Amino acid sequence: MKITEMAHLYIKTALQEGGVAVDATAGNGLDTLFLARQVGPGGRVYAFDIQEEALRRTSALLQRENLLERVKLIRVGHEQMSAHVTEAVSAVMFNLGYLPGGDHSMVTVKETTLTALKEALSLLQNGGVITVVAYPGHHGGKEELKALLDYCARLNSRAYRVAYTRYLNQAHQPPALIVVHKL
Ligand SMILES: C[S@@+](CC[C@H](N)C(=O)[O-])C[C@H]1O[C@@H](n2cnc3c(N)ncnc32)[C@H](O)[C@@H]1O
Repeated sequence: MKITEMAHLYIKTALQEGGVAVDATAGNGLDTLFLARQVGPGGRVYAFDIQEEALRRTSALLQRENLLERVKLIRVGHEQMSAHVTEAVSAVMFNLGYLPGGDHSMVTVKETTLTALKEALSLLQNGGVITVVAYPGHHGGKEELKALLDYCARLNSRAYRVAYTRYLNQAHQPPALIVVHKL
């Protein structure tokens, strides 16, 4: 199982039909598509990306699957999430790094990622889940992951349960998954 598929498993535990979810990094749209299927016809997904190309790819994928009307595509940094999402959410997904096959300079960075995580926590309802897939292998990725781990390790254990998963026997610097469950 890919680590992104593991993130989907965690999201499924918290996101029901009719629910509201956020994809904080739309990219190629695979996570947005997963969330749109999960929320069903009565649900809503907010999908953020700073790149027009990413939102174009995401929109095309959703259109092919006839699911575009469940999704609001927002070309704004996820650090401004709460200005655009004005309701409580059950799930937020982050898949950090850069757009595969796109501009590698348009990459997530630790400062805005941390701000976005805090925004996501403020929107999350009880029982909700945030997943963060982080890639320490690219420039700045190791520092971004460390900042996230330092922050998450200090979250109040009465309010949140935080898990950290990494395949130990993969070469180089395998991606990491952080899961925050609001109790
Ligand atoms: C690894 S890709 C996401 C993959 C995507 N979840 C998928 O399923 O295809 C990371 C994306 O984060 C976007 N990104 C970078 N900084 C961002 C920010 N501040 N706010 C929102 N998206 C950002 C990049 O443009 C890129 O498209």
